Amino acid sequence: MTIRTLLAVSAFLAATPALAGSAQHAVLARYAAEAKTADPGFTGFSAERGKALFHAKFATGKPDTPSCTTCHTENPKQEGRTRAGKIVPPLALSVKADRYSDFAETEKWFGRNCDSVIGRTCTPVEKGDFISYMITQ
Ligand code: HEC
Repeated sequence: MTIRTLLAVSAFLAATPALAGSAQHAVLARYAAEAKTADPGFTGFSAERGKALFHAKFATGKPDTPSCTTCHTENPKQEGRTRAGKIVPPLALSVKADRYSDFAETEKWFGRNCDSVIGRTCTPVEKGDFISYMITQ
């Protein structure tokens, strides 16, 4: 990381809600560093954009999973279900405190779910926006 990236990342982290612990900060810092590398003009994540992504309906992925809400429901505080009926614990950090605390685990699910719903991988900005929204929930 360059000094500029480090400064941008720390300024951004100072603005994340107190609910998130150091593990969530570390995961967000990695996405912020990736975002800054991809786009030097990156200025920070947006919980509003994350919320919009969560509720968006896509026509580019698998027809039976047009939205994140297909499995996670419209309410992040609520338990969801996979197509096969398996229970998915809530995504909101206030309800499930170990969410977004393990980079490899978070990456694995973004990989699978963005591919199913959008038909491509999510960008670092989309991932950071999504987590920024969920840690306020
Ligand atoms: C086909 C059902 C399904 C859809 C659609 C879906 N998810 Fe998930 N998601 C899951 C399952 C199953 C898990 C893993 C179980 C868990 O972590 O509770 C999961 C976990 C996650 C995690 C891991 C959270 C953590 O603890 O680190 C993230 C992030 C996530 N989903 C994001 C998304 C996003 C973004 C979308 C929409 C683009 C989406 N999901 C759509 C089923 C789905």
